[in-house]
Amino acid sequence: MLSVRDLRKSYALGGQTLQILQGVSFDLAAGETLALTGESGSGKSTILHLVGGLDRPDAGQVVIDGRDIGAMSDKQQAQLRRTTLGIVFQQFNLIPSLTVADNIAFQARLARRHDPSYAADLASEMGLADQLTKYPEQLSGGQQQRVAIARSLAAKPKIILADEPTGNLDETSADAVMAVMNQLVRETGTAMLMVTHSEKIAHAMDRRLHLSHGQVA
Ligand SMILES: Nc1ncnc2c1ncn2[C@@H]1O[C@H](COP(=O)(O)OP(=O)(O)O)[C@@H](O)[C@H]1O
Ligand SMILES: [Mg+2]
Repeated sequence: MLSVRDLRKSYALGGQTLQILQGVSFDLAAGETLALTGESGSGKSTILHLVGGLDRPDAGQVVIDGRDIGAMSDKQQAQLRRTTLGIVFQQFNLIPSLTVADNIAFQARLARRHDPSYAADLASEMGLADQLTKYPEQLSGGQQQRVAIARSLAAKPKIILADEPTGNLDETSADAVMAVMNQLVRETGTAMLMVTHSEKIAHAMDRRLHLSHGQVA
């Protein structure tokens, strides 16, 4: 489903070059869940951005569903993101002028896969059934995070990329959100690459990768 080969990325910082990724390779099979851990600043978010086509690597290859994204135009990458990937980043990027229901439907509509009854099921599984007519600013941070997760799942992606999606919640709420997200990902056969700092969450996933000194093991 996802194949990452010898990914390299550096950033220029005040005349210096920071080598962040120094040959990162891994695979993610269809329906598999993979935890990505590593110290703050080790390059976890950088990996997700490169896999999601939000940034380009200095070298290396990302193949999603058999397609080398490095060979695609920005427009083709955006199309692939819409149809194949679900992205849940730390900033939820909800649309303030849309209700919770319309936020949840947004990605699915873009992918032309909006299924109102599926979206409603996801909303209730995420504990949002009573929030559907509200606007994001009327929700707590944890509820907003649940909306972002439901939105990514509603579009029926093949792969979910998630960057510390529970990082803003207390541990009990984080574990509850993760449990539901893991269950939904399994039920739907969605593959997931998730950055987490939680050992507990990492151990609930099929495989774990640890990023250190620019490489994963
Ligand atoms: N656009 C950028 N320009 C310069 N440095 C960056 C940029 N993005 C990230 N970095 C640096 O790269 C390193 C890895 O960042 P990141 O991937 O966000 O780490 P993590 O998600 O593991 O905390 C950090 O030192 C960060 O400061
Ligand atoms: Mg990060």
